[in-house]
Amino acid sequence: MRRQVGKRLGRRLAELGLQTLDQYRDRLESDPVEWGILDGFCRITISCLYRDRHVFDTLAARVLPELGNAARLRGDPVRCWCAGCACGEEVYTLKLLWELDVRPKILGAPLEIIGTDANPIVLRRAEMGCFDSSSLKKIPANWRETAFARDDHCYCVGAQYREGLEFRQQDIRVDIPVGPFGLILCRNLVFTYFDIKQQRETMAQIAATLCGDGYLVIGAHETLPDEGGAFMQIPGCREILRKTPPPSATRPEAPSPAPSTIVVSRIERRRVQNKEDYAMMRIPHELRDEFSQESQLIERLIKSDHEFGRLAASYEEINHEIYRIEPEETPTTDEVLETLKKRRLMPKNQITAFLRR
Ligand SMILES: C[S@@+](CC[C@H](N)C(=O)[O-])C[C@H]1O[C@@H](n2cnc3c(N)ncnc32)[C@H](O)[C@@H]1O
Repeated sequence: MRRQVGKRLGRRLAELGLQTLDQYRDRLESDPVEWGILDGFCRITISCLYRDRHVFDTLAARVLPELGNAARLRGDPVRCWCAGCACGEEVYTLKLLWELDVRPKILGAPLEIIGTDANPIVLRRAEMGCFDSSSLKKIPANWRETAFARDDHCYCVGAQYREGLEFRQQDIRVDIPVGPFGLILCRNLVFTYFDIKQQRETMAQIAATLCGDGYLVIGAHETLPDEGGAFMQIPGCREILRKTPPPSATRPEAPSPAPSTIVVSRIERRRVQNKEDYAMMRIPHELRDEFSQESQLIERLIKSDHEFGRLAASYEEINHEIYRIEPEETPTTDEVLETLKKRRLMPKNQITAFLRR
């Protein structure tokens, strides 16, 4: 993944006629728009179902049954959050693990999963729940027949395996869903791409929104800052970490009321603000509005054509950036806004040409 970011950066340097990263750093310092472009380069959306098999095997064998039994005793659902959920690969993997493997073995509580991602295009795909066969190559042998229906070139998750799933557009640096969650997957995003300050901040927010002894899953090549802070690896799987109770706690399974109440309520307030913002504003100039006559063709091409999907993602990322600036959510100058609008024209023109082919 880092290679892919590196390649994009290399192409950008060539586009700008720059030779070195130092020159690019100078460019970033003098051109605020460039930060948005660099941010877009870091949005790697590669994923697949059952990615890192041993992690999901451990979740199925040890973590999910424990969470299910505890939730059943409390009369609650098991609540999970997948941060940076891409096209829903982890969300559907967890759901299918639950329904096909864990739930039949325990008298389980229902499972609720929220998948969040900053990229509206991948979220649209996540809602469709359809994957090509390369995304399914790691799933257990019986899942394909049991849980998926074949649809043209792809496999779509059956309706009975979609209950309790929700996808939301959220930039994890700005907003996170309200917990408490028993399990949070935050893989191949924060602890790969963010700087150490942002990693620390996000790790603290994740800890605050996990229940007292909840679990966090990170990517296979990731480590947490500060030697894991409030988290400890579980034996036998370095990617699964458990929130450790505060030293003063007498009952290990109880959440620590004081700190988590303070932090969660801060998150809640921020979320409500954003919810109101989102409710007020439908993002203007989305692809489906700009090309309303061709919206079905666009949906189909996003699913089936990689190049078109990339153009659509690029258009919507810039459009989203403009949307954030226009209501002055992100302060900037008219000049920056105009530059972004011009930049938005590039993928739009290419999309127009693509649709006329
Ligand atoms: C490499 S993918 C990882 C997908 C999945 N978590 C996995 O490990 O297979 C990273 C995902 O994070 C999303 N992303 C990037 N920046 C983000 C941000 N600031 N907030 C939320 N999601 C973000 C990208 O759109 C992409 O879908």
